[in-house]
Amino acid sequence: MKIFIDSADTHEIREAARMGAIDGVTTNPSLVAKTGRKYVDVVKEICELVDGPISAEVLGTSYDDIVREGREWAKMHKNIVVKVPLIVEGLKAVRTLTDEGIKTNVTLCFSPTQAMLAAKAGATYISPFVGRLDDASEDGMLLIEQIVTIYRNYHYKTEVLVASVRHPIHVVQSATLGADVCTIPFKVIEQLAKHPLTDIGLAKFLEDAKKIPR
Ligand code: G3P
Repeated sequence: MKIFIDSADTHEIREAARMGAIDGVTTNPSLVAKTGRKYVDVVKEICELVDGPISAEVLGTSYDDIVREGREWAKMHKNIVVKVPLIVEGLKAVRTLTDEGIKTNVTLCFSPTQAMLAAKAGATYISPFVGRLDDASEDGMLLIEQIVTIYRNYHYKTEVLVASVRHPIHVVQSATLGADVCTIPFKVIEQLAKHPLTDIGLAKFLEDAKKIPR
């Protein structure tokens, strides 16, 4: 499973990239707003930090605006993936952008039928939001299971990119279910590396090492 970082904070992205675990980056308007910087400037810098797919979201909601913004994003760097909301206008735009060879990530997916339509439109990635479904008392990971099964049954090429990840169990379940990508906030990436028994074991080794004659 590929691991993307879900962040617009270039310090976090740099740190995560140094761990060698990052295959790509996803951003969204909410994450960029937190930085206080222009979306274009953030994405340009990210493209210099990570050599992999970088999702940059369109802000328009009409077919014309989505296609126009998508083409602009795609022109900026070869690694840019245009993030498009899962609405009817968005699906039409994905068809057009796909036909032009532009990669897309269809976002805000909350149902298997939405995921089927995104695949039919030729999306490169589908982004189901597991955490937000859990927040609404639904089972986010059940949606991943359904989409992975449907895509496998019909050999859809669209990759399942698990988004709205909140904790390491979401990551483990994504990998177990065969998701193609999991996009993970920096805090959760750090949690993936940690285990209390590792810390306890290391402290004991370091303590015992002092007893070894030099
Ligand atoms: O990038 C989209 C997604 O990962 C958002 O996550 O935590 O705002 O639901 P969250």
